[in-house]
Amino acid sequence: MSELNPPTLSLHAVDGSPSPRLLVRPLAVLARMIDAAQARRDRRDPAGPSIWEPIHLGIREDGRPVRVPLIYRNMLLAGEPGAGKSVGLNNIVAHAALSMDCRLWLFDGKIVELGLWRSCADRFVANSLDDAIAALLDLQSEMDSRYAVLDDERRRKIARSDGVEPIVVVLDELAYFSATVGTKREQEAFSVLVRDVVARGRAAGIIVIAATQRPSADIIPTSLRDLFGYRWAFRCTTDTSSDIVLGHGWASRGYTAGSVAPEAKGIGFLLAEGGIPRRVKAAYLSDDEVYALADRAALRRLAAGLSTHAPAADAGPAGQPGGAS
Ligand SMILES: Nc1ncnc2c1ncn2[C@@H]1O[C@H](COP(=O)(O)OP(=O)(O)OP(=O)(O)O)[C@@H](O)[C@H]1O
Ligand SMILES: [Mg+2]
Repeated sequence: MSELNPPTLSLHAVDGSPSPRLLVRPLAVLARMIDAAQARRDRRDPAGPSIWEPIHLGIREDGRPVRVPLIYRNMLLAGEPGAGKSVGLNNIVAHAALSMDCRLWLFDGKIVELGLWRSCADRFVANSLDDAIAALLDLQSEMDSRYAVLDDERRRKIARSDGVEPIVVVLDELAYFSATVGTKREQEAFSVLVRDVVARGRAAGIIVIAATQRPSADIIPTSLRDLFGYRWAFRCTTDTSSDIVLGHGWASRGYTAGSVAPEAKGIGFLLAEGGIPRRVKAAYLSDDEVYALADRAALRRLAAGLSTHAPAADAGPAGQPGGAS
């Protein structure tokens, strides 16, 4: 074999057909990728939850547990300040963070609500609209690449067996980004991106969970609201606000979050599977439980090679692991 003419550079065999050696390198790379993905899957704790399985949200009035699948769905939570949205969100974030088969992207204008889960997140966006827009643009390109692959494979949606990790995107206080900070143009850019990700993300495994304390038509226009398959209306001050969350006409049929007493924290009407809003009390995780779960999830993610961030408690006085964008 001449050094000047190594076989890997020869495009064709003597008879003109493609040299089998040419295929060896890409196949070896592919095999290594598959092995690495398998090894990562094997390291995951089989006893932990999975994002492909239903998520426990709370209990119904008759005491029965409420569990809903989130894969291929989006959820909107809305209600007046202090009604229990962030507590409701914590149940979802906890399940997602402990599920070693998904990624977590968190947006929290208040910083401190979802900030506890920062070490579990691939992206954590605090109170910067620029960062929020940049993160959503990245999410949009990830979504587009996933669709390009699905299209190549003549498929319509990702499947559990793919090993493609669903991305759970949680936005606490949508209105902070869409109506409070930044210029009108930036707010509009943010809203357009959210709408696109909510509208197109599901089949690509992008699950959007958004909360807002302003259930008004400017923050949740009908066209956006209708993109959310699941809607959870916590206490609202009026039946109109409740209808803005759940959909027009539910209040007149007796399903209104305006009927929830101000002291009934964590109770709301959940419109999910079944098509009729149900009164649900969100499961409550105390701050200590959230800290413990967040640390456990962060360590598991670290061990599973899903993140490079130590739990916040181990991240030094700043408590700012590299997850922040
Ligand atoms: N499911 C629940 N069970 C028991 N207490 C709850 C529940 N949900 C909320 N609370 C109580 O109400 C408080 C406010 O809840 P939470 O922070 O979730 O409200 P919020 O709707 O997110 O408010 P904001 O719009 O101001 O962010 C909690 O700190 C807790 O004390
Ligand atoms: Mg909140």
